[in-house]
Amino acid sequence: MTRKLLVIGATGKTGRHTAELLLERGHHVRTLVRRTDERSERLAALGAETVEGDVLDLDSLARATEGVDALYFTYPIAPGLIDATANVAQAAEENGVGAIVNMSQISARRRTASNAARQHWVAERLLDRAPSAVTHLRPTFFAEWLTSMWDGSGVLRLPFADARHAPIAAADQARVIAAVLEDPAPHAGRTYPLYGAVELDHHEIARAMSRELGRTVTYEPIELEEFERILRGRGMSQHMVQHLLAVAVDYRNGVFSGMNDLVKQIGGEDPLDVAGFVARNRSFFDEHAG
Ligand SMILES: NC(=O)c1ccc[n+]([C@@H]2O[C@H](COP(=O)([O-])OP(=O)(O)OC[C@H]3O[C@@H](n4cnc5c(N)ncnc54)[C@H](OP(=O)(O)O)[C@@H]3O)[C@@H](O)[C@H]2O)c1
Repeated sequence: MTRKLLVIGATGKTGRHTAELLLERGHHVRTLVRRTDERSERLAALGAETVEGDVLDLDSLARATEGVDALYFTYPIAPGLIDATANVAQAAEENGVGAIVNMSQISARRRTASNAARQHWVAERLLDRAPSAVTHLRPTFFAEWLTSMWDGSGVLRLPFADARHAPIAAADQARVIAAVLEDPAPHAGRTYPLYGAVELDHHEIARAMSRELGRTVTYEPIELEEFERILRGRGMSQHMVQHLLAVAVDYRNGVFSGMNDLVKQIGGEDPLDVAGFVARNRSFFDEHAG
């Protein structure tokens, strides 16, 4: 059945894949975008109704949620998550939106050193009070980390010691998000940790990348001070740096580890492993070969 669905953050990693998938499946997809640019125009060309707005502006969000059956909400690691979540809850209630799929993260906890992870936990509790059917997603680190932290040198310099996770691609999460938006009832009140196909440490990740790329990739474990220098050198915000330093410690302590079959069960297909993700993003690695 065709549904009217709103995708917030549709120009970002999970939102873009979700909007595209829902359009392919014939739904009426409205996307909330902060500005018209080539990304929003691309979505419009695929058939999306694009609405300019901002989740920190309740009125624009109220307009965007008019007539919507269900929505996907994601917000970057940036100040304002709780304000944004409160606005989403309010606008959804005003317009009788039946379901909300909320992007959180695996490290969301009441007690955590990361301000962003704690805010995700509070945002979850806030949405739990909403009359809509709410589903929280708690993915481990995205596979997209392998591109966003790639510096072309072939060395993964990260502070993750020998701890493990199963990197999950945004496209795999999109199939879960789409399935819940299409049929929210079985997922109401549920919280889903999401993982990719295979749990690996970063030495194993580097070996999988080497095999797929046909050139040597290595992992060099670093300390938090060095990681902080790298993050600041990349111009990351204080909010992001605080978060990443805190979750690096979580990562070492196994908070990002784990496996389940929810992506297959809900999304209908096995998630990608590292090799599959690298293969799909081959052109990126070729263009950033160093
Ligand atoms: N990366 C990871 O490894 C990881 C792991 C677990 C969980 N997560 C969670 O994933 C979430 C981010 O999801 P993502 O990676 O799919 O998104 P993303 O790529 O970071 O993109 C964020 C999207 O939100 C939009 N946006 C930003 N501020 C907005 C505002 N005020 N009003 C309306 N739209 C706004 C952005 O638009 P513009 O591009 O125009 O700014 C963009 O479309 C975070 O909550 C994070 O905790 C990430």
